[in-house]
Amino acid sequence: MPDPAFQDKTILVGLTGGISCYKTASIVSRLVQGGASVSVCMTEAATRFVAPLTFQALSGRPVYTSAWMHIESHDPQHVSSARQADLMLIAPCTMDMLAKLAIGRADDIVSLIAAAVDRNQQPVLLAPAMNEAMWNQPATQRNCEQLREDGYEFIGPETGWQACRTSGAGRMSEPEQIIERIEAILSSR
Ligand SMILES: Cc1cc2nc3c(=O)[nH]c(=O)nc-3n(C[C@H](O)[C@H](O)[C@H](O)COP(=O)(O)O)c2cc1C
Repeated sequence: MPDPAFQDKTILVGLTGGISCYKTASIVSRLVQGGASVSVCMTEAATRFVAPLTFQALSGRPVYTSAWMHIESHDPQHVSSARQADLMLIAPCTMDMLAKLAIGRADDIVSLIAAAVDRNQQPVLLAPAMNEAMWNQPATQRNCEQLREDGYEFIGPETGWQACRTSGAGRMSEPEQIIERIEAILSSR
């Protein structure tokens, strides 16, 4: 259903390697139905959970799985796709990706595109997802603190049922909550 908050908006969605990748398919579908142009990029690990083809079909656009793909323009694409975005969402965001972003690495397509985003103009929303032990690691908590200081926005994680079949903190926020948060961020700008 069209959503005024998403009309004429370009949203980058990055996926990293966690079970919650399946939830992101529904987020992409909702954004597209709302009227947004959605470009998806996936780490190699993310492609092991859900096929890029799913996101290509849902977004109607090529899916970036490598920094060496030049699909849509002659520009180095990570720079051009980052420049066009009104917002970048990374969902799920792994423990590994939180660490990379916190120290400024850019050796995969998701962290590379995130590195080309100007967070003063283009918010980057992170939806962490991992098991409770990973979420409670001092390193993860330190990295999140650093990322907040650096201007990244967070949604979740929630406490609840986890893919490792226990309950705890680290569950990715539900697609509905993430969509509402994106709406709120875009409407406030
Ligand atoms: C079955 C399975 C499930 C996983 N789920 C998660 C997860 O939910 N969160 C997480 O941080 N890492 C998870 N991992 C580990 C990451 O996939 C691994 O750290 C990977 O290197 C992350 O790469 P990326 O950050 O480049 O996507 C999982 C691994 C496997 C094999």
